[in-house]
Amino acid sequence: MKKVFIRTFGCQMNEYDSERMAGILLEKGEYQIVNSEDEADIIIVNTCSVREHAENRELSYIGKYVKNKKVVVAGCMAQNKKQELFKLFPDLFAVIGTFNFLKISDILKDENKKILVDETDIEFKTNYKREKKIDSLLTIMTGCNNFCSYCIVPYVRGREKSRPVKEIVEEIKNMVKQGIKQIMLIGQNVNSYFDEKENINFPKLLKIVHDIDGIERIKFMTSHPKDLTDELIETIKAGEKFTKHFHLPLQSGSNKILKLMNRKYTMEEYAEKIKKIRDGIQDVNITTDILVGFPGEDENDFLETVNAMKKIKFDDAYCFKYSLRKGTQAEKYGDTISEEEKLKRLNYIIELQKNISYDINKSYLGKIFNALVLSQSFKRKEELKAETDNGKKVFMKGDKGLTGKIVKVKLIEIRGDSFGGEMI
Ligand code: 5AD
Ligand code: SF4
Repeated sequence: MKKVFIRTFGCQMNEYDSERMAGILLEKGEYQIVNSEDEADIIIVNTCSVREHAENRELSYIGKYVKNKKVVVAGCMAQNKKQELFKLFPDLFAVIGTFNFLKISDILKDENKKILVDETDIEFKTNYKREKKIDSLLTIMTGCNNFCSYCIVPYVRGREKSRPVKEIVEEIKNMVKQGIKQIMLIGQNVNSYFDEKENINFPKLLKIVHDIDGIERIKFMTSHPKDLTDELIETIKAGEKFTKHFHLPLQSGSNKILKLMNRKYTMEEYAEKIKKIRDGIQDVNITTDILVGFPGEDENDFLETVNAMKKIKFDDAYCFKYSLRKGTQAEKYGDTISEEEKLKRLNYIIELQKNISYDINKSYLGKIFNALVLSQSFKRKEELKAETDNGKKVFMKGDKGLTGKIVKVKLIEIRGDSFGGEMI
């Protein structure tokens, strides 16, 4: 048995792809998936290209192992840099892109150096071995058509493509058989999901998934604000299995910058959608992505972002500083904000969000939620890790036999970005 370690960088898309690569290799019966680099003969590095910082980390990771192990580079950086990776690392074993990774076992079999980065159709498999756990990811669509001017994703993952409803349902039924209770439907922009043949949009898909027996919880990510409809809000409100959580990347609070980013909504339109969600759904959890230091972002634009964050009060915000990506539309604007200024702005909003999150979380103390028990806690064995029906992590004492069950829990203390609670 050859021992394979998969190191995943980046987003949930990559996590799902890594899980599938592992599943394919396990089915072959010739590979064992191990938990560390040291034990492995082969290392698959599933990479992210969204920021230069991520690529640099991945390059130094590859450099560390490439001489002593068979290293395969997969994912977005493989698709982005292609042949160039062999120039950087002559000892590299193989490069396999975002459209081809399901051929991972062919790549490993062949001793010749190989590169597979064709933009072909991705075939999905509806059944593969998964790690034994309660929650799992499922890709419902790949690629992106939005071309936000800063973003490399449409170039490395291609155009939007929705998986057929039938295939998704079949995969979920297989997941249920494997004991999975919670699924997160993922895609770059799940709101534009559309099965043309069956005439099924995202809210309709959600209703179909809701009716599958054995699935207890359904989450989804990411929603582009421009495509978030009333139908979606109504659907989430009505279905008890849906986690009351929306991740809605705002990116900037300045209309000038939103336009340069090609986001296709204004701050006012965005705020209106947030209001609708909050008016419709009690205790709804809303998170976002914020991107500072976009070329041309002046003090005033930045202040508008700060004010938007203060006004909307997100439960959480993932904050990033702009990183110029070659080939994107924003390349032509240059990289006009100094690193020092970008960092200053980034640190400011991170601190701001920390305080906002803390205040929101404080307001949850004493409240009672239904929570799905996901596992035993990793750190404190006497505790269980669970997730409330608005997507907040909570740890509480309890028997691990409750794993996979929905329990009632009272939130009693804040622990970083999670809660401590007690079952009632
Ligand atoms: N630089 C910095 N952050 C970026 N993101 C996407 N592209 C870039 C970039 N070039 C951020 C956006 C997106 C998140 C996944 O990553 O905020 O929502
Ligand atoms: Fe990138 Fe915009 Fe597509 Fe998201 S919606 S993947 S930010 S281009």
